[in-house]
Amino acid sequence: MKMRLDKFIADYTELTRSQAKKVIRDGAIRVNGTVTKKGDDKVSFSDSIFWGEQEIRGQQYQYIMLNKPAGVVSATTDNHDTTVVELLHQTKPFEGEEELSLFAKDLFPMGRLDKDTEGLLILTNDGELAHHILSPKYHVAKTYYVRLDADLEASDIEAMKRGLDIGEKRITKPAELEILAERECYLTITEGKFHQVKRMFAVLGKHVVYLKRMSMGGVVLDEMLPSGGWRFMTEEEIMKLKGDSHGKE
Ligand code: URA
Repeated sequence: MKMRLDKFIADYTELTRSQAKKVIRDGAIRVNGTVTKKGDDKVSFSDSIFWGEQEIRGQQYQYIMLNKPAGVVSATTDNHDTTVVELLHQTKPFEGEEELSLFAKDLFPMGRLDKDTEGLLILTNDGELAHHILSPKYHVAKTYYVRLDADLEASDIEAMKRGLDIGEKRITKPAELEILAERECYLTITEGKFHQVKRMFAVLGKHVVYLKRMSMGGVVLDEMLPSGGWRFMTEEEIMKLKGDSHGKE
């Protein structure tokens, strides 16, 4: 795909289109080693484009894995709380030197975790994939680690499998409960209703005291990531996510 050089620079740096035009006119941009002063020159992702010493990589989309801490909200902007997008901009990737600022325009969280929920949150600017992953038509599996205020019973496994009335039009889709300890379990669901896990356990008379998402669509939270840490997703992880988004029933 070919696009105008000034658009390319505006899309993949923090510069606006008019600032991009200016740096081009000023001779600060080299395309394949040659200074280029024309904003309407056409470039593609295979061209090597430098702004001074900084390579501008025209990667179309970004996919980021965040270990969301409690206390931040799954949004791009918020009047009261720090958002996950702000958190990314405030911190460097875990064990990586790659800067976010040049590539991170238009990132948004792929789905929501409650403010007090921790764990795997994927951020991207790939609207199409996010639409697939989040669409109720695609039953992308999400596994949560759950701690409760009451003991689990064997009958809870069956109840989760059968589906529960949480006050929506339909009962919940079959969910898989794996008991780890008296008050600890994994729950895998394939929907994303508001507060779904908390509401499902509430029907069983239990209160969720800690919730952490461990995986989504075959992508597992990197256990090396500290709370609040993030990294760029690997090609393999991105492929898994894309593969899962095609599992429409
Ligand atoms: N279910 C919940 O209740 N909360 C979350 O954050 C995610 C799933």
